[in-house]
Amino acid sequence: MSVERFSNETGPAAARIMARCAELRAISADPNAYERLYLTPQHCAAAERIIGWMADAGLAARMDAAGNVIGRLEAPDSKAPALLLASHFDTVRDAGAYDGQLGVITAIETVAALSRSGAKLPFPIEVHAYADEEGTRFYTMLLGSGFVSGLEGPETLIKSDAEGVSIAEAMRRFGLDPGRVGEARRKPGEFRAYLEVHIEQGPVLEAEDLAVGTVTGIAGQIRGTVRVTGLAGHAGTVPMPMRRDALAGAAAAILAVEAVGRSDPDLVATIGEIKAEPGASNVIAGAVQLTLDLRSTDDAKRGAALTEIRMRLADIASERNLAVELVVASDTPAVDCDPKLIAAIDAASQTIQGRSIHLVSGAGHDAIALGRLCPVGMIFVRCKGGVSHNPAESITEADAGAGFAILTRTALSLIEQA
Ligand code: GLV
Ligand code: MN
Ligand code: MN
Repeated sequence: MSVERFSNETGPAAARIMARCAELRAISADPNAYERLYLTPQHCAAAERIIGWMADAGLAARMDAAGNVIGRLEAPDSKAPALLLASHFDTVRDAGAYDGQLGVITAIETVAALSRSGAKLPFPIEVHAYADEEGTRFYTMLLGSGFVSGLEGPETLIKSDAEGVSIAEAMRRFGLDPGRVGEARRKPGEFRAYLEVHIEQGPVLEAEDLAVGTVTGIAGQIRGTVRVTGLAGHAGTVPMPMRRDALAGAAAAILAVEAVGRSDPDLVATIGEIKAEPGASNVIAGAVQLTLDLRSTDDAKRGAALTEIRMRLADIASERNLAVELVVASDTPAVDCDPKLIAAIDAASQTIQGRSIHLVSGAGHDAIALGRLCPVGMIFVRCKGGVSHNPAESITEADAGAGFAILTRTALSLIEQA
């Protein structure tokens, strides 16, 4: 593809990317907020839309056994390891319109541009749209890319959502056969490289006045739940020293987790969700369920922080005569991006925007899972105020265009080098 032809592609592609992010934004479980969780009717509707866009771009598209959308553009050498471009299309609750979907839609645009260019492909290209990255429903992240990469297997299917519906049961209700989830798994050697465009979800690019940055590594993270069990009782009659108040214990647990997160600049620790039972103003809470999210780019520090949290929770349990149980649902290691892909993205960035900068990702990404199968690279696009996981998430059309241009140019450089 010539440089001129390629720059002509960027404007229309950027406009389509923005329009399609808005189109997906309309597929939400909540009419007043953006929410699309794994194995829901909204997952199905969005998958159908993405399959249509992939087909328009020349990809053979299908849903895999885990509910991911998989598109493939064949090459004369169909056995050559494919280039994989991907991201996710699930959301958090009350989400923004770009986290995940920007990468899926940009990847489709890149393949469309490469198809239109008539460039001879030395290897196939796949675009994957993963159905669960956020882990919002089942408290474990990267289920979609996890089933593809082998990070998750059939043993994961017993995990359940807040209503007690297991992943296996949710798959059946969705129309997938949980007994066949292993068919989603791909093998090492099938992919030569993985590239993902994603919003930065932080403030650095805005401060640097740059549209796009090159990611050098992704923090590892632990997700889990903390269950605090005490004894429900009458709020007016049980004397304070005799209480086994699970909510007061949970408050202490929240502050303990925060203190561990604050103890080292390489750590972040968050309790983002709380559910008290039975949940009434005149009843002492008998049980409380919390979520735990613990991250670090340093795997040893993350492990040590988990041990420290367990010890502090045990102290709270014995001080307050409560049972406190921490269950780890997923523990994914930190991942380094591939030096050759970093160099290719840097070179594309220098051509498109005059310079490149390096960023480390505190957010989790599907690249963590795919790092088990092939070298990974990530391209971050500036978002307004660094705000993400929030309906105020915002990017400009020009920056979407820069992300598209840099992804396409990086893919072209891999094609030229093959
Ligand atoms: C995914 O968005 C995460 O929580 O890092
Ligand atoms: Mn994401
Ligand atoms: Mn996210």
